[in-house]
Amino acid sequence: MIRVTDVSKTFTLHNQGGAVIPVMLGAKVSVEAGECVALTGASGAGKSTLMRLIYGNYLATSGQIRVGDLDVATAAPREILQLRRDTLGYVSQFLRVVPRVATLDVVAEPLLTLGVDVEQARDRAAGLLTQLNIPERLWSLSPTTFSGGEQQRVNIARGFVHDYPALLLDEPTASLDPQNREVVLSLIETAKRRGAAIVGIFHDVAARDRVCDHEVDVSGFAPKEAA
Ligand SMILES: Nc1ncnc2c1ncn2[C@@H]1O[C@H](COP(=O)(O)OP(=O)(O)OP(=O)(O)O)[C@@H](O)[C@H]1O
Ligand SMILES: [Mg+2]
Repeated sequence: MIRVTDVSKTFTLHNQGGAVIPVMLGAKVSVEAGECVALTGASGAGKSTLMRLIYGNYLATSGQIRVGDLDVATAAPREILQLRRDTLGYVSQFLRVVPRVATLDVVAEPLLTLGVDVEQARDRAAGLLTQLNIPERLWSLSPTTFSGGEQQRVNIARGFVHDYPALLLDEPTASLDPQNREVVLSLIETAKRRGAAIVGIFHDVAARDRVCDHEVDVSGFAPKEAA
């Protein structure tokens, strides 16, 4: 479902004298339906960068990034937006939302853009918010003032509201208490059972061992030290 082949990434810092920074060389990851693959490696190794490459936030310098039938590395922006709508979900580390939109609608939005009717989308959003222990009195408020853990749970609800065939999870259990951590791990397990292909970053080793089938150490893709 997700196949990264021979991907390299070089950043050019135009605002710092055009410094060229190679961060990745020959990256390779393969995820089948129903599988979870963990990206590991020290801080700064390039885990989040690889995830952003797969999501199409960063443009690969070379290589192939297949998600379903699309090569994200060469796809048109319109194709990437379509992929994000129906196929590829992403739970980033931090929630980014438009101010003043109610939490219930923030979570329901991915379904609305798919054409699901409002009642059904809100029902599904409410179900996830309940599961993730976000009190109902908060649903009508914008999540901008929520606590870190609350925002993270809203982000997770939004990422699981549609049954994406492929999912990217950047530290989904990072700031959660044990009870909510458990809810998130069972959401991941359920998604795997329905056939989702998942790439995850987990500093929580117990969580990683429980839900992930393989590990890919991205420090193996570090370019040789430039002279
Ligand atoms: N937009 C960017 N421009 C320049 N360099 C970048 C950019 N994004 C990431 N990098 C560099 O790429 C390297 C990998 O960063 P990345 O965020 O992928 O690490 P990580 O493995 O996710 O680390 P952590 O565990 O701390 O989250 C770092 O050296 C970082 O400075
Ligand atoms: Mg990171």
